[in-house]
Parts: sequence; structure tokens; C-alpha cells
Amino acid sequence: MTDQRKGILISFEGPEGSGKTTQIEHLVPKLEKLGHEIVVTREPGGTEIGEEIRHLLIHSSNNSEMCPETELLLFAASRAQLVREIILPALEDGKIVLCDRYLDSTTVYQGAARQVSADPVSMINEFAVGTVVPDLTVITDVPAEMSMSRVRHRASDLPDRMERENIDFYRIVREGYLLLAKSLPERFYVVDGTEGENEVARAIWAEVKKRVKL
Ligand code: TMP
Repeated sequence: MTDQRKGILISFEGPEGSGKTTQIEHLVPKLEKLGHEIVVTREPGGTEIGEEIRHLLIHSSNNSEMCPETELLLFAASRAQLVREIILPALEDGKIVLCDRYLDSTTVYQGAARQVSADPVSMINEFAVGTVVPDLTVITDVPAEMSMSRVRHRASDLPDRMERENIDFYRIVREGYLLLAKSLPERFYVVDGTEGENEVARAIWAEVKKRVKL
């Protein structure tokens, strides 16, 4: 897989209920107004194969026995497909790709929260994405309590497998993201997700303009 990208890859990360998906929706029209072609995608999923893996990972009623190692490999499999089928071709065409979760979710959820050891996590992440690392990663940061309460109040049906985790799991996820951002400040931007939706959107837009050559 050769990476001859002309486009820009921005990933959005954060715990459940942090508002990252809404923030992607805010960003799209602003970028389009500047004449960019935008591709919005998500993980796990984003391709037919990936969406089937998503179902298996998150919604299937038969997944309660899934061990962390299997989980890690399935997230990576979905990502490998997404990179080759959607992300890389879009970047080669000069498009801006906005990805709702990407490799950092694996580092945090499978590495930190599920405690799969760090070496295989980073090796498998690298195998899945190759050189296709985000130009910018926005983390919407919210306290674990807010994450949990937003998930519980979602209008949709029953909480999925990941959403059923307890408060400690959400705390580890949050800390994992903050640690990652601290270790790679040139790639990450952490925004306070407890602010109002429009305020968060303004902050993200200001940072995107500052950090990414549009
Ligand atoms: P969401 O994208 O709707 O927030 O849900 C995806 C869930 O999957 C969320 O709980 C985070 C989790 N996840 C991982 O555990 N590892 C990963 O690599 C990815 C992409 C997601």
C-alpha cells in the first residue's frame, strides 16, 4: 500500500457521548464552503465488510464471550478494509476525510481499558493503517460521569456491548485519551466537550484552520 496522499485526514476521538459525531456534522459545511470535497466515515464500519464487523463487535447478541484479543483483531480488520477501500483513495484524490474514531480508539479501548499489552496493539494498529496516520486528531473530552449519563439518556434502544461498561471503564478511557494527547501534542487537539455544542464547534474550527493547510 503506497501512500501518495494529497488530501487531509482528520480523526475524531473521545469517549461515548462526548459529542464527536455532532462535531463532525458542524465541520463538514465549513470545509465545503472553502471548496473541499469531504468524505465522512466511521469506525468500526464505513465499508460493507466493516459494517458487518461492527455488528459482530457491538450489537450481536452472541458476542458476550468475545475475548479482548479477538476484539482487537476485529477492530483492526475493519480499519484495514476502511483504509484501503475508502480513506486512501479519497486522500489520493485530494479530499478531506473526517473519520469518526480511528486507530487511537484501539490504543485506548483495547490497550488501556481492556489491558491488551501495548506492543501487539501498536504493531497491529500499524499493520492495519500503514502510513495512513491522521494529520490532526480532535479529542472531545468529557468526564466519565457525563459520558455514562449521556449514553443512558440516548433515545435509541438498549445500550450496546461497549456502552454497558461501568464508570471505571469510562474513566480509564478518558485518561487514556488525555495521556495519548500529551505524548503527541503535534497531532492531537483536546477540546472541552462539556461546553455548549456551538462553542465546541467554534473551538474546533479555529484549531483546524490553525493546524491544517486548507
Ligand atoms: P461509536 O463509534 O458509536 O462511539 O461506538 C464504537 C464503540 O467501539 C465505542 O464503544 C468504542 C469502541 N471501539 C473500540 O473499542 N476500539 C476501536 O478501535 C474502535 C474504532 C471503537
